[in-house]
Amino acid sequence: MNRAAVVAGLGAWVPETVVTNDDLAARLDTSAEWISTRTGIEQRHIVAPGESTGDLAVEAGGRALKSAGTERADMVVLATSTPDRSCPATAPEVAARLGLGGAAAFDIAAVCTGFVYALGVSAALVESGTAGTVLVIGADTFSTILNPADRTTRAIFGDGAGAVLLRAGAPAEPGALKGLHLGSDGTRSRLLEVAAGGSRQRSTGRPAEPDAEFFTMEGRAVFAEAVRHMAASVETTARLLDWRLDDLDRVVLHQANSRILVAVAERIGLPADRFVRNIERVGNTVAASIPLALADGVRRGELLAGQRVVLGGFGGGLTWGSVGLVWPDVVAA
Ligand code: COA
Repeated sequence: MNRAAVVAGLGAWVPETVVTNDDLAARLDTSAEWISTRTGIEQRHIVAPGESTGDLAVEAGGRALKSAGTERADMVVLATSTPDRSCPATAPEVAARLGLGGAAAFDIAAVCTGFVYALGVSAALVESGTAGTVLVIGADTFSTILNPADRTTRAIFGDGAGAVLLRAGAPAEPGALKGLHLGSDGTRSRLLEVAAGGSRQRSTGRPAEPDAEFFTMEGRAVFAEAVRHMAASVETTARLLDWRLDDLDRVVLHQANSRILVAVAERIGLPADRFVRNIERVGNTVAASIPLALADGVRRGELLAGQRVVLGGFGGGLTWGSVGLVWPDVVAA
């Protein structure tokens, strides 16, 4: 392989409205202390009435283009499980709003692993020469599919968007994506789901049960699967790259629960402080989680050019995946 997909720009965006743990405790049977100690989350951002995933994706995507110093991209790939409408995909409208009319544009739905899947597909399109530049966006608005009365999911999820611009370059360059590993286990798809609204329910001709329109998850089982699969996936990517685990300067995982990050660190035998963490500020933002953590890592000076980094995700499907890179010199916009 003599052509690689190189990270050339990074953008992030969260909506204005902040919901603190105290705000949730005032409305639900929970406490700020429970949320903080069981999840590591202190606050999350949620969209305003009428605001959509596409709106956040446009903000983050525009910032990634600016960070890369360009106004052009050949393709827009949007990872989301909360599209603006169930049909069509949200990406073409995002591309049009970014002034990228005519660019190929499509959505990828792999829930919290969506951004890693989108990076993998986009990198392959760059490596094959099909695209010269791809704007890869992860954006979700899970606040729109949560049961307002569910104290567990409402504590965990927040809205946001993050994006990177990939350009064609050489495999030895900083920023070149490599060591991609992706996997799934559809036998456990019901651990995280929105049961109604798809063809399985709609083909019955009967209206959905009201609660079936909301996102549900089996927290404990998801926790165990997340630790197992993210640890194994990071190890696989390191092995594919011929990097020892101890060579990893930074691991940037999907921010699901700070205890999951600690458990993965223990499982692979790395100090927890090598794991970038911003969950306290944004909660679990699904497909936006990894690029938002990248942007915060850069802004805080935790992610530095030249560091060996593995990104890893886990989510509904079940799905999981990882990819490695030597961190490039990019500014987070
Ligand atoms: N406030 C107060 N109590 C709560 C609560 C809340 N917001 N949410 C759950 N509880 C209660 C439960 O009802 C349970 O009560 P019980 O013992 O009387 O039945 C108790 O806390 C413990 O529940 P449990 O599910 O065992 O807690 P936990 O330590 O596993 O934490 C999660 C729950 C959801 C935070 C945790 O399992 C988790 O983070 N799972 C992964 C979720 C995730 O990452 N999802 C996205 C994956 S991409």
